Amino acid sequence: MSLDLSRLRAETPGCAHVLHLNAAGSALPSRRTLDATLNHLRLEAEIGGYEAAAKADGDLEGFYPAVAQLIGAETDEIAFVENATRGWDLAFYSLDFKPGDRILTCVSEYSSNYISYLQVAKKTGAEIVVVPDDNYGQIDLGALEHAIDKRTKLVSISHVPTQGGLVQPAEAVGKITNDAGVLYILDACQSVGQLPVDVSKIGCDFLSMTGRKYLRGPRGTGFLYAKRATTAHIEPIFLDNHAAKWTDDNAYTTRDDARRFENWERYFAGVIGLKVAADQANELGVEAIWARLRELAGGLRARLSTLKEITLTDLGKVKGAIVTFAVAGADHVALRDALRAQAINVSVSTQFSSRLDLKGRDLPNVMRASVHVYNTEAELDRFVAALDAQLSRR
Ligand SMILES: Cc1ncc(COP(=O)(O)O)c(C=O)c1O
Repeated sequence: MSLDLSRLRAETPGCAHVLHLNAAGSALPSRRTLDATLNHLRLEAEIGGYEAAAKADGDLEGFYPAVAQLIGAETDEIAFVENATRGWDLAFYSLDFKPGDRILTCVSEYSSNYISYLQVAKKTGAEIVVVPDDNYGQIDLGALEHAIDKRTKLVSISHVPTQGGLVQPAEAVGKITNDAGVLYILDACQSVGQLPVDVSKIGCDFLSMTGRKYLRGPRGTGFLYAKRATTAHIEPIFLDNHAAKWTDDNAYTTRDDARRFENWERYFAGVIGLKVAADQANELGVEAIWARLRELAGGLRARLSTLKEITLTDLGKVKGAIVTFAVAGADHVALRDALRAQAINVSVSTQFSSRLDLKGRDLPNVMRASVHVYNTEAELDRFVAALDAQLSRR
């Protein structure tokens, strides 16, 4: 089913103001998501925060099935968290690493995750193994299979990196980890909402996600998926009186659903906003979204390749909605700022977020233009013309 573009744009207030090619930073929300979030904030101000939560209980509870449907999970396998990093941390830091345990990851891994591997390695004596890429620039599945041994405690990768269109073969990785009986954390921060993500096919044990990117939810929202069959025994690194019950002076019991990873206090308006954003993705259909995003991103890559100063830098056998490129002799940050002054939003990905990958390719940084369903071919023409004009001014 194809998407109704004029309706999508009419229902996205930001389309009237900016040419937004920064969905991988933070996408433009729909009016429905915006209204749902604002209405709850207003209700909190009018009747009190606790009273508003009681009144909105149906919507707050509706968050779990909406997200579960989106990724093929069960409702009790979802926890609300404030962003992808915290969701990921809750999974990772809840694991019990011992000296010699090995953490296998990929070259394109996100900096925050890698910093956590380094910290845990320093504290526990666990070891980090970076599995090399194959010729497409995605994780080499043969090398991964070969690297897994009895010391391997965890395989942890990012599905779609921050710095490009690469889509890692998450399902093939899951087949390898499941066959080996090794835990698998998938950072799906940039993939859920962009492409079909079905945890029952991928076979990951944890999956972390943010609200503001391809789901078009409010900032400060996200979720963690924890597979019941393999993670029920894992106690969260943090417990509070939502995650656990103080049952006796010297005893507590932990919740047995994924909400044991949550806090009691949270951004309630954000939960409702993210529920509505997830509902919308379910209604549009992730397959239809993915088809449209690939069409747009492919069209953008084709347009950019007509400019002689530009080198496309996306890796991968499958390329998604994040388009990256280097401009010969240009200061990418200055270029981004010049475009922003014309209400054209793109971003710059640096080694700060993905050191191993960009450093390995000798790229200090790359320009990033990330499309979403509200973008049009006319906008892509306008963006490439503005970029070209900027370059010819040098
Ligand atoms: C692959 C990846 N993981 C994690 C994050 C962090 O997400 P958040 O800012 O929601 O914590 C990002 C942010 O860009 C990312 O690209």
